Amino acid sequence: MFAAIIAAGVCSCYYDSEEGLYPSISSTCDTTNVTYSGKVVPIFANNCLSCHSNARAASSGGSVALENFADVSAQAASISAAINQTGPLSPMPKNGSKLKACLITTFDIWVRNGKPNN
Ligand code: HEC
Repeated sequence: MFAAIIAAGVCSCYYDSEEGLYPSISSTCDTTNVTYSGKVVPIFANNCLSCHSNARAASSGGSVALENFADVSAQAASISAAINQTGPLSPMPKNGSKLKACLITTFDIWVRNGKPNN
């Protein structure tokens, strides 16, 4: 009974703030002004396009291209699952270290904001 009250209290504020959603992100992670061009594209450029560029996708990236806004936007749910490495999809980056929490959070914020092309 007591535990249930505590759990309800935690859940009720879960969506209140970014700090509540991402408590493990350090204060050095700048998650303000998350734009596609400014914050999302560099994540892919630095960690994914070696296999998922338009040119390389067929040979190295399982035919998953992540170079254009349209492709990233359409595949946002699988990208999030792959980089969070929580679901049945292949964990990404393939054969690499998991992305820093800040980058994963940045991508998920962009998705939550409605995947703006900005
Ligand atoms: C070393 C090459 C390589 C890198 C780097 C890489 N991927 Fe992949 N990715 C692949 C291959 C190959 C597949 C096809 C599935 C498999 O073989 O695991 C794939 C599949 C995927 C899929 C589809 C997953 C599924 O199971 O359907 C997504 C989404 C994806 N990658 C996202 C990313 C993202 C985002 C990054 C960067 C953070 C990334 N990948 C980095 C090679 C790579």
